[in-house]
Amino acid sequence: MKKRVTKAIFPVAGLGTRFLPATKSIPKEILTLVDKPLIQYAIDEARSAGIKDFIFVTARGKSALEDYFDVAPELEATLRRAGKDELLEVLKNTNMDSGAIAYLRQHRAMGLGHAVWCARRLLSNEPFAVILPDDVIAAEKPCLEQMVEAHQETGGCVVATMQVPEDKTSSYGVLDVASEDGRLVQVKGMVEKPKAGEAPSNLAVIGRYILSPRVMDNLSEIRAGSGGELQLTDAIAAEMDKGGKVFGYRFEGTRYDCGSKAGFLQATVAFALQRPDLRDEFGRYLDGLIAQRKAAE
Ligand code: UTP
Repeated sequence: MKKRVTKAIFPVAGLGTRFLPATKSIPKEILTLVDKPLIQYAIDEARSAGIKDFIFVTARGKSALEDYFDVAPELEATLRRAGKDELLEVLKNTNMDSGAIAYLRQHRAMGLGHAVWCARRLLSNEPFAVILPDDVIAAEKPCLEQMVEAHQETGGCVVATMQVPEDKTSSYGVLDVASEDGRLVQVKGMVEKPKAGEAPSNLAVIGRYILSPRVMDNLSEIRAGSGGELQLTDAIAAEMDKGGKVFGYRFEGTRYDCGSKAGFLQATVAFALQRPDLRDEFGRYLDGLIAQRKAAE
């Protein structure tokens, strides 16, 4: 029986420069899609995949994240007095059991691989998940749950992958494919941010990973890669050099790149249109806006 994946690392120490000035004082992960912060979508997904221990790699200026997961006694008492049970229920989801969540700091933003490496002492010899909260994935079965199921079959490492247009491959880690079987892609190599025309495929890695414990050792051994940062992609590629198996998993669902403004806005509109309390009024507003644009053309 393969070891269950019960720990997840959430690297949230990036500077979030694409959302300045907002991110000068608000962590990117607290930005909201409709009324829920990005981090809550990530936590909900992890919980439904069976994650029990949540490890946050944070940085200076991110204390709002720690407060978000704390209890709010005054707010709760006020809501209770006012009989606002539905809102109390909403708040419950934001609470974490004592000891279930750990925060540690990455003192300098030295890359995603370095952020993951910062959590090394909190893991023992077990597979672990990495979730980037700025990738929000709308799916019937949450993406990480799909990947955990795939990992039960395959072992090794499983990374979420999706096709991207050829001119976008240089923004991602890209898979070098050995063979494909349905949603599973056996990988023989990985390249971080390949130069234009040099990508081995158009299958990009996005922000969900299930990694074997050896990837953590690899992170201790490799040197800085693309952009002078310690790259998680390079540590996973090193795993293949050591004979470890790596699979891409073409998840079912729609991924929104909420680390970019355009992706964040798309997710906001898509999620608002899913909400029973908003979709009619907001849908009418959008229809009107589109009609106005067409008339102006
Ligand atoms: P990004 O590449 O989106 O960088 O990081 P960023 O700093 O968050 O945002 P921009 O590009 O300046 O707007 C991808 C993920 O890796 C984490 C980020 O928090 C994000 O979840 N990360 C990145 C770290 O935790 N530490 C780092 O040193 C770099």
